Amino acid sequence: MSSEASEFILNDNHIMPKVGLGVYKIQSDDDAMLAVDTAVKAGYRLIDTASVYKNEEIIGRAINNCGLPRENLFVTSKVWNTAQRMGDIEGAFHRSLDRLRINYFDLYMIHWPVPGCYAETWKVFEKLRQSGRVKSIGVSNFGIHHLEHLFESTGIIPAVNQVECHPLWNRKELVNYCQKRGIVIQAYAPLARGAYSDNKLLRQIGVKYSKSAVQIGLRWLVQQDIGILPKSIHEDRIRSNIDVFDFNLTDSEMTAIDALDEHLRSAGIPNDMIGADIE
Ligand SMILES: NC(=O)c1ccc[n+]([C@@H]2O[C@H](COP(=O)([O-])OP(=O)(O)OC[C@H]3O[C@@H](n4cnc5c(N)ncnc54)[C@H](OP(=O)(O)O)[C@@H]3O)[C@@H](O)[C@H]2O)c1
Repeated sequence: MSSEASEFILNDNHIMPKVGLGVYKIQSDDDAMLAVDTAVKAGYRLIDTASVYKNEEIIGRAINNCGLPRENLFVTSKVWNTAQRMGDIEGAFHRSLDRLRINYFDLYMIHWPVPGCYAETWKVFEKLRQSGRVKSIGVSNFGIHHLEHLFESTGIIPAVNQVECHPLWNRKELVNYCQKRGIVIQAYAPLARGAYSDNKLLRQIGVKYSKSAVQIGLRWLVQQDIGILPKSIHEDRIRSNIDVFDFNLTDSEMTAIDALDEHLRSAGIPNDMIGADIE
């Protein structure tokens, strides 16, 4: 990976890689080892997990055996909704660290803005950050009104908002809002789970740069200063998903890709958030 803009300086001055390996649905030691090893060799330095993925133990083993010192990796996890409802944030945080067998997180996020809970959760996050066991704190699946509410009720602006974002759901208003306030947008489901792999426009643009439709979609994201978390358990895909830093899309190509937006939510809403006030 070229060093061109391959990292963000977060609003708390920590450095975060622009590309991370998503590990949702990785459920075996073999898949975790292969994915993490391949990713590390290809230049990934960020691994994104969550307690609800129920794979922190196998991801931890893969991280601890990948040959890189802990400080060269950027490890993120998220507190699940149940812990928020129970007010058990610190317990959930420490259990995640224990399962991963690491002693700090680079970034810990509120997975979903659970109504009536997330502002209180954020206050505990601020304390966790002060404790030094997490360097940066962030949120996920937060819309503008959730962020506004956080600003009104607490002191620290999140470093990151991890949301679904890809060419078929470009989140322009939210991206602009966050970027103006120094909050990095990190795109989950950046491949829309494969939904644009055969897109005609992306394939056509790809011919010009000798890239796949998927690589064009990922380039369109990073070129807007959006982080990406592509998930794969296949070596060729893991390598190609990070190989998006050696070309630039033109302004007219960027605009043409913007027009593919169809508000496609590919990752769904958890059952316990259906009906909640989310975007
Ligand atoms: N904060 C949240 O609420 C939230 C929600 C969802 C996801 N996430 C995070 O974001 C990460 C990525 O999202 P995601 O896993 O939902 O979806 P994704 O990365 O958009 O798509 C993953 C799917 O695309 C396939 N794939 C990977 N590379 C490909 C390529 N080059 N060409 C075609 N298909 C390809 C994968 O299959 P193979 O594995 O078989 O290659 C997998 O089925 C997650 O793993 C997780 O870390 C966060």
